Amino acid sequence: MKLFVDTANLEEIEALVPLGIVDGVTTNPSLLAKVGGDPRAALKRICEVVQGPVSAEVVATDSDGMVREGRELAAIDPHIVVKVPFGKPGVRACHTLANEGIRVNVTLVFSPAQALLAAKVGASFVSPFVGRLDDIGTSGMNLISQIVEIFENFEFSTEVLVASVRGPIHVIESARMGADVCTCPPKAIEALFNHPLTEIGLAKFLADWAKAQQQQPVA
Ligand code: G3P
Repeated sequence: MKLFVDTANLEEIEALVPLGIVDGVTTNPSLLAKVGGDPRAALKRICEVVQGPVSAEVVATDSDGMVREGRELAAIDPHIVVKVPFGKPGVRACHTLANEGIRVNVTLVFSPAQALLAAKVGASFVSPFVGRLDDIGTSGMNLISQIVEIFENFEFSTEVLVASVRGPIHVIESARMGADVCTCPPKAIEALFNHPLTEIGLAKFLADWAKAQQQQPVA
């Protein structure tokens, strides 16, 4: 399963890339607004740092505007994947952009039917938001399992990109279900590294080693 970082913060991305676990980046208007400055320049810098897909979202709400904006975003860098919100304008824009060879990520997906429609119009990725479903008392992971099943039935090439991830359980369950990608905020990636028994185990190894060194007879 690929791991993307869900942030527009270059420092956060630069800290994770050397670990070798980052396959791409997802941004959205909220994340780009948070870092401020020129969003296109920020996207270009991210594309220089990450050797993988970088999702950049349109803010137009009509189909023609989304297509126009999508072409402009795609021209920033070959790594850019144009993100469009689900809905009739988004589906129509995805259809047009995908036919032009521009990769599209259909976002704000909350049902299997929406994912199916996005796949039918050639989306490269669909982004179901698991955390926001959990927040309203519905199982986000259940949605992922339904979408994975549907895409397998018809051999759609659209990748299931699990978004709105809150922690390790979402990542582990996504991998178990065979989702293609999980996009995580840096905090969730950090949490994947942690296990108290690893820390305890390492401390004991080092303590035992140090003790043995002290017991070596002096030559
Ligand atoms: O990038 C879209 C998505 O991951 C947003 O997550 O935490 O705002 O629900 P969140």
